Amino acid sequence: RPLAIETAQEGARVEGLKITQRPRRNRKADWSRRLVREHTLTVDDLIWPLFVIEGKNRREPIASMPGVERQSVDEIVRDAERAARLGIPAVSFFPYTEKSLRDPTGSEALNRDNLVCQAVRAVKRAVPEIGIMTDVALDPYTSHGHDGLLEDGAILNDETVALLVEQSLIQAEAGTDIIAPSDMMDGRVGAIRAGLDKAGFRDVQIMAYAAKYASAFYGPFRDAIGTQAALVGDKRTYQMDPGNGAEALREVALDLDEGADSVMVKPGLPYLDIIRRVKDAFGVPTFAYQVSGEYAMIEAAARNGWLDGERAMVESLLAFKRAGADGVLTYYAPRVAERLRAGA
Ligand code: PBG
Repeated sequence: RPLAIETAQEGARVEGLKITQRPRRNRKADWSRRLVREHTLTVDDLIWPLFVIEGKNRREPIASMPGVERQSVDEIVRDAERAARLGIPAVSFFPYTEKSLRDPTGSEALNRDNLVCQAVRAVKRAVPEIGIMTDVALDPYTSHGHDGLLEDGAILNDETVALLVEQSLIQAEAGTDIIAPSDMMDGRVGAIRAGLDKAGFRDVQIMAYAAKYASAFYGPFRDAIGTQAALVGDKRTYQMDPGNGAEALREVALDLDEGADSVMVKPGLPYLDIIRRVKDAFGVPTFAYQVSGEYAMIEAAARNGWLDGERAMVESLLAFKRAGADGVLTYYAPRVAERLRAGA
């Protein structure tokens, strides 16, 4: 019963609302919707995270991330070539380290020939035009699955930072373009910047995982790099509490002060408010990580026929742009790039 209409017309025949503003006019056709659209997703917004595994010609599915695989270095090169063909600006590498190479101090992180360094060198050689980002943290290499050194149940900060600086230098020597510390130790961005500069890597960028939350949405990633079963306890003494917002601004301020070139908020969709606040407060290049659990949720529902996966993919990525992100790390990168190229 359109009550408002009857009152407005005082019982007279309904001839329509006397309103001048009709937002629906702009939505009436595709051409008009495209004209007034405020935000768009383009291929230039994408960073593609890839999982590296030992071997040759090897691709291995990840159960909790359907459609994503662990790949040997030669296969990583193929995907980097595909990314370049699609126009994706950058790729990022995460290693699945063999169990026998994991130890309490994560010493494989400092092996100049570890999987990440191999992938960086191979991709630099084969696809020199693509940007390469590498993760700095110890968790793919430690037997306990933590991002830092563990002593009596506590994660040591300063001792860990010393190792992260070395890890960064080794990745820079291999040829990485962006160092992305995801460990959440205090003071690591400044220490890494100083280390890089001293060693002559002045042009290697730092993208700080500045506001990284202790999140349940990393589950499938830990499965992908094989740390899920190993992880002793949780990461709440170094990753942020999901109840905090202002603290994210403090973390970003510190990382920028210490020399970060860009910052990241992680996870993505549950933290769109943080992206907006960071972008508004600092106006610096701000990235979102649509993490493994976000990808897995959409894929699980799509594969069950519960939602339209293609549309959910595009909508979720566009939401990051609307929230103020300059770009997104997403496992959907090649799929959405194909779609954008097709003009869909
Ligand atoms: C750890 C790291 C994690 C991710 C990237 N780097 C997981 C964690 O903190 O346990 C998660 C990425 C994802 O879930 O897709 N240094």
